[in-house]
Amino acid sequence: MIPAITSMKNAFDLTGKNAVITGGNRGLGLGIAVAMAQSGANIAILCRDKAKAAEALDELKQYGGKYMSFDCDITDIKSVRAAANEVVSDFGEVDILVNNAGVSCFNELLNMDEELTDWYNVVNTDLNGTVHVTYEFGKKMRDAGKGGAIINIASNAAFIVNKTQPMSPYSTSKAAVCHFTHCMAVELGKYDIRVNAIAPGFFNTELSKFIPADQYEYINNQMPLHRFGEPIEVGALAVFLASPAAAQITGTVQVTDGGYILSC
Ligand SMILES: NC(=O)c1ccc[n+]([C@@H]2O[C@H](COP(=O)([O-])OP(=O)(O)OC[C@H]3O[C@@H](n4cnc5c(N)ncnc54)[C@H](OP(=O)(O)O)[C@@H]3O)[C@@H](O)[C@H]2O)c1
Repeated sequence: MIPAITSMKNAFDLTGKNAVITGGNRGLGLGIAVAMAQSGANIAILCRDKAKAAEALDELKQYGGKYMSFDCDITDIKSVRAAANEVVSDFGEVDILVNNAGVSCFNELLNMDEELTDWYNVVNTDLNGTVHVTYEFGKKMRDAGKGGAIINIASNAAFIVNKTQPMSPYSTSKAAVCHFTHCMAVELGKYDIRVNAIAPGFFNTELSKFIPADQYEYINNQMPLHRFGEPIEVGALAVFLASPAAAQITGTVQVTDGGYILSC
């Protein structure tokens, strides 16, 4: 059983915890890496872009923990298996896993090519990639016997049909990630592994720079809180879900979108 906190002292502290973050080299993943590093965690980044990974590690080093990156393509289970073995041998046993890596596409189903390239690319990354990483790292966490926390980065697109861009493979994958979170919370609870998801809305990342000005304006106007979020705000929620303060929380999906899904 995971013990309850007895005071708020250190309730959000991750000191000495080893966190693996897929796609931690940029965007929301880097925001999560920074927030967890500032809360005391060691960080292992899994990604493909080595140059971006080196930049992220450079940014993290000021926080004084252990920070490493590992090559991994989450669509390829053999690549994930190799990365999981390397992480455990070179970085250490895993306490926290954040399934953050993801891609999107803006295309209507009937306009896709006959191979459904867009569909399979998104589903293989956002849904199957999350499954591959949970399978390989989940087994390591189970075998280490120390429990832990898994956080899946879904999207508010799991709950709405986005009017500004057609993205059915993305919305469908993220909806499946939310229910995968529920299923894993039940299956992994006996190992003291908590599984939760975060469903972000619109955040200021490199991707959001490409949103046309009129759409940016529309989204801001629809949102009750009238601003795009910052990556560190997703990081703050991830720190909470990984921390002792959340010891009794599993199988939840936390929406952070300035209230967009309530009024879009
Ligand atoms: N930004 C938002 O407003 C927003 C809103 C809702 C949900 N989200 C979700 O938040 C997560 C991060 O989004 P973001 O905006 O930060 O995206 P981003 O800046 O485009 O970064 C995507 C990340 O995913 C990694 N990645 C993609 N495919 C991969 C693969 N096959 N194997 C390994 N890594 C892979 C990339 O690594 P490389 O650099 O190595 O390619 C990169 O680190 C995604 O799951 C996204 O769906 C974002």
